[in-house]
Amino acid sequence: MTEQKATNVHWHDGEISRDERGELLGQKGATLWFTGLSGSGKSTVMVALERALHERGKLCYRLDGDNIRLGINKNLGFSAEDRTENIRRIGEVAKLFVDTGIIVLSGFISPYRNDRDAVRALHNDDNMEFIEIYVDVPLDVAEDRDPKGLYKKARAGEIKNFTGIDDPYEAPSNPEVVLKSHELSLEQEVEALLKVLEQRGVI
Ligand code: ADX
Repeated sequence: MTEQKATNVHWHDGEISRDERGELLGQKGATLWFTGLSGSGKSTVMVALERALHERGKLCYRLDGDNIRLGINKNLGFSAEDRTENIRRIGEVAKLFVDTGIIVLSGFISPYRNDRDAVRALHNDDNMEFIEIYVDVPLDVAEDRDPKGLYKKARAGEIKNFTGIDDPYEAPSNPEVVLKSHELSLEQEVEALLKVLEQRGVI
C-alpha cells in the first residue's frame, strides 16, 4: 500500500454521479486489464478490440505500456519498485476513465500478481468492473516474435531485468480470460472478448 503523504486533504463530491455520466454516454465504464510477457500480443489484440468496440458505438481508450512510459510514467524504469509504481498509477488512471464511463483497455506486462490484485481491489472498493485478461504465450513464442528486438538485446546482456529473461513474470492464478494468442486468430480473440463483455453486461 502506498503511503498517503499529504495530510488534511478530503474527497470533494460533485453533483453529477458516475451513473449520470454513463447515461450520457449510453454505456458503463470498465477496465480490461491485459497482462502478459512483452511480445505476447497485448497491444495487438487491444487495438483490434478497440476498433470492434468503437464500431459498436462504445467509447474506449487504450492505456498501453510503452505509450504511458513515454508520458506520465517517463520517470519510472524497470526495477521491481518502479514496476509497482507504474501499475499503481495506471490503476488510478484507469479508475478515472471508468468513473467517466469509458471502457479502458489497459496493456502492461504487470509481472507481479500483488500489483495486479491491488488494482483489482481498488476497482472492487469503488464498485467498478475489472476484467483480467492473461495473454498467455510460452516465452519461446514471444522471443521468436521479438517485435522490438528486445529479447535479442536482453539475451546479449544489453538490457538488464528483462521480463522472462532475468526478471520474473507471475502468471495470474484466476484471470477472467486466458488468450493463447499463438493458438487463436486475432478475429477469434476479439470475438471471445466481446462475448465476455456481453456476458458481464459491459456491452
Ligand atoms: S511493466 O513491467 O512495468 O508492466 P510495461 O508494460 O509498462 O512493463 O512496459 C513494458 C515494455 O517496456 C515492453 O513491452 C518493452 O517494450 C519495454 N521494456 C524495456 N525494458 C524492459 C524490461 N527490462 N523488461 C520488460 N520490458 C521492457
